[in-house]
Amino acid sequence: MMPVGNPAPSNHYTYFSSPGWTQHSYWAAPLFMEQNVWDKFEGAVIGHQGLINAKNESNAALGDVKLTHDWREVLAGNADVAVVTADCIELMKEMPDECIDYIFTDPPYDASVQYGELSFLWNAWLKEDFRYTEKIVAHEIVRNERQKKPFEVYHALLNNSFQGFHRVLRPERSLTLTFHNPTFKVRNAPVHAGVFAGFDYEHIHHQPLGQVSAKAMMQPFGSAQGDFYLRFAKTAEAPRQMEEITEQRFRVIVIETCRKVIAERAEPTPYTILINQVDPVLAKRGLFGTLQTGLDVKTVLEESIGKDFVLVDAKLGGAAGKLWWFADKIFVARLEQVPLTERVEGTVSRCLQEKGRVTFTEVWDTVAREFPNSLTSDSTSIREALELYGRKVPGGAWMLRDEIRLRLTNHSELIALLAQIGREQRPVARIDDSETARCIGRCDKSFNGARHGFALAEREAGRARV
Ligand SMILES: C[S@@+](CC[C@H](N)C(=O)[O-])C[C@H]1O[C@@H](n2cnc3c(N)ncnc32)[C@H](O)[C@@H]1O
Repeated sequence: MMPVGNPAPSNHYTYFSSPGWTQHSYWAAPLFMEQNVWDKFEGAVIGHQGLINAKNESNAALGDVKLTHDWREVLAGNADVAVVTADCIELMKEMPDECIDYIFTDPPYDASVQYGELSFLWNAWLKEDFRYTEKIVAHEIVRNERQKKPFEVYHALLNNSFQGFHRVLRPERSLTLTFHNPTFKVRNAPVHAGVFAGFDYEHIHHQPLGQVSAKAMMQPFGSAQGDFYLRFAKTAEAPRQMEEITEQRFRVIVIETCRKVIAERAEPTPYTILINQVDPVLAKRGLFGTLQTGLDVKTVLEESIGKDFVLVDAKLGGAAGKLWWFADKIFVARLEQVPLTERVEGTVSRCLQEKGRVTFTEVWDTVAREFPNSLTSDSTSIREALELYGRKVPGGAWMLRDEIRLRLTNHSELIALLAQIGREQRPVARIDDSETARCIGRCDKSFNGARHGFALAEREAGRARV
């Protein structure tokens, strides 16, 4: 059985989430694959990520933490943690004002997943009564037209929860909300709710996905990848005013931000990278979009095709698709940076040379640190660079290929030679300082050839002009 998915204006299917979890109905497909229920169950209980291991880990981590199901016991100091399953709006109504130190919340994203409705199989399994699903969906903060909860109702429920959060939180304390990013309109719903409840919207942090599939990266209008963490503070003074953005200003910010990102990367760029950069820019400038406008990063970019940007064919990890590039060739000619893919390749090759043996995660980590934010790289490009410069060794690690090592040795010798000659003569060719230092260091340590080269260079110095 699989969940039904068929996008139409009358239902709550969204293009931005994986089809499957947006509908409340399950469907028995004519072609299907069966998994052994007992194997799955066994995996869930005694498997690596199963219940027993999780329990052992949490027991070890929580030690003598006193658990309860009654939050009053925590406020009274009789217990440390209360695990309560309830409608947060109703729960907060029972709580006194200003009794909470910190709130972390992960609300549903519009209609992306119909948690309540999809749980009817579980409810049957748990032998809950037949009206149980109806009861929980009445409280659920989600967009669902069939439940007569259009976007406005979803937003009103979100507002309602934020008013509760603001009341129960102590002054000068914060709330963090994590939000996956479907559309600009939905993304701004919690910002509106927070600001109108009296919070100061302090910060937005984007956490890109660790691994983005090549196929997803190559969609000209894919979806934003990763999560956003929004921090709200309950300040004693009146909160900072957020400015409502006009459509015109929104357009300018989208185009300018995307231009900057593509110029920094200096190569055709995936949509997912562009869309992820716009929100933090808006937030930093104290702007947020109106809920009424349908304007979205996607719409603005669509309108820009042929004027500001063009879509170019590209291939990544075997997947074919489109990437965004400057329409104006003068822009391209003026780019100062080396294309990002080449810079990433350089880092991958350096990682292999310097560390001798590396895992994919170590390389990924180095690349992520060196190329943050708009320069985020996808796992496929890193893997391709590893395959270009490295060879896989037993245990899943990578080492530099012999032929590359040889080529690098020659390259190092040559650069060392040029550097030496350049020092003695007026340099015509500029060699990046760090590279020179590395090459000379390596040559001094390891290569007789380079010493021979220096000697040669010294002899030739009188005549050579580099
Ligand atoms: C994005 S999910 C959170 C997932 C969770 N952080 C995790 O990692 O499993 C949103 C959850 O909020 C729940 N929810 C919706 N409305 C709620 C309400 N009024 N009170 C409490 N929880 C609610 C949904 O049922 C769903 O389980």
